[in-house]
Amino acid sequence: MRVVKTVREIREIVKSEKRAGKKIALIPTMGALHDGHLSLVKEAKKSTDFIVMSIFVNPIQFSPNEDFNKYPRPIEKDIELADREGVDLIFNPDVDELFDSALTFVEVEKLDKNLCGLSRPIHFRGVATIVSKLFNIVTPDKAFFGKKDIQQLIIIEKMVHDLNFDIEIVGVDIFREKDGLAMSSRNVYLSESEKKDALILNESLKKGANLIINGERDANRLISILSSEIEKVKSAKIDYVKIVSKEMVDVDTVSVGDILALAVFIGKTRLIDNYIVGGKLWS
Ligand code: PAJ
Repeated sequence: MRVVKTVREIREIVKSEKRAGKKIALIPTMGALHDGHLSLVKEAKKSTDFIVMSIFVNPIQFSPNEDFNKYPRPIEKDIELADREGVDLIFNPDVDELFDSALTFVEVEKLDKNLCGLSRPIHFRGVATIVSKLFNIVTPDKAFFGKKDIQQLIIIEKMVHDLNFDIEIVGVDIFREKDGLAMSSRNVYLSESEKKDALILNESLKKGANLIINGERDANRLISILSSEIEKVKSAKIDYVKIVSKEMVDVDTVSVGDILALAVFIGKTRLIDNYIVGGKLWS
C-alpha cells in the first residue's frame, strides 16, 4: 500500500491503474479509522480492483466552535488498519495542498437545511466541496459512503446527479458495536459511563422502529415517545429527533423509506444515528 500527499502523485497513479483496466474505488474519510470505515473497504473490494482511501480532516466542514483541532488524527494506526484491510492507496494531503485561498464552494440547496444542517449551517457545503474536489482528483468509478451519515449520503447522491459526475455512489449499512452503538470516530471522546448512556440513541430508534412495525404512523407521537426516552438519560441532551422523507422534509405520517434521525449530545460529544423505515432491525 502506498501513502501519498500530493494531487500530482495521486493523479499519476490512478491514471496508470486505469490504463491497466482497473476499476477504481474511492472511500473518503477523516481517519481515526474503525470497523465502520473498514466495512466500506470490504464492500468496495466486492466490485472494484483498486481502492483509494482519502484521510483528510476537512477544515471547511467544521464551524469555529466545533472539534476541528481536537479531532483524532492517529495516522500511523490508520495506515496499518487500511493496509491490513487491503486498501491500495492512501491520499493524506496537508490542508495547504487542497485549500489555497479557495473562492469556489459547492452547495446542495434545501437538502442541507434540515437535520444536521440546522445546528451545523456550513457543514454540508464543506462536505460537498471537499467530496467534489476528491472526485475530481481521484476520478473513481465508484465511491462508498456510510448510511450512518444518511443526510450526507443523500446530499452527495444529489450532487453527483446535478453536476453529472460519472461516478456510482454506493451506500453501506451502519456498522454497530455488539451492544448496538453506531461506530464513530467521535466515540473515543466518551467515558465508560457515557458509552453506556450513548446506547440510548440506538435503543430509542429501535423502539421507534418497533412501534412503526406495530402500526404507529403518527410522526409527532413517535417523536415525543423517542424524545422522552432519551431525556430519561441524565447526560443526554437532544439536538434533534426528527422523521423526514428522503427529500429531507418533516413528515406527519410515516411511510416506508422515511428516516428516523437523531442527534444527541452525550456530555460534550454530539452523536448521530438513524433508522430507515422498512429497513432491517439490528440485534
Ligand atoms: P468520516 O466521519 O471519517 O466517515 C467516513 C465514511 O465512513 C462516511 O461515508 C461515513 O458515513 C462512514 N462511516 C462512519 N461510521 C460508520 C459506521 N458506523 N457504519 C458505516 N459507515 C460509517 O463522513 C466523513 O468522514 C466526512 O464528512 C467526509 C465524507 C470524509 C468528507 O470530509
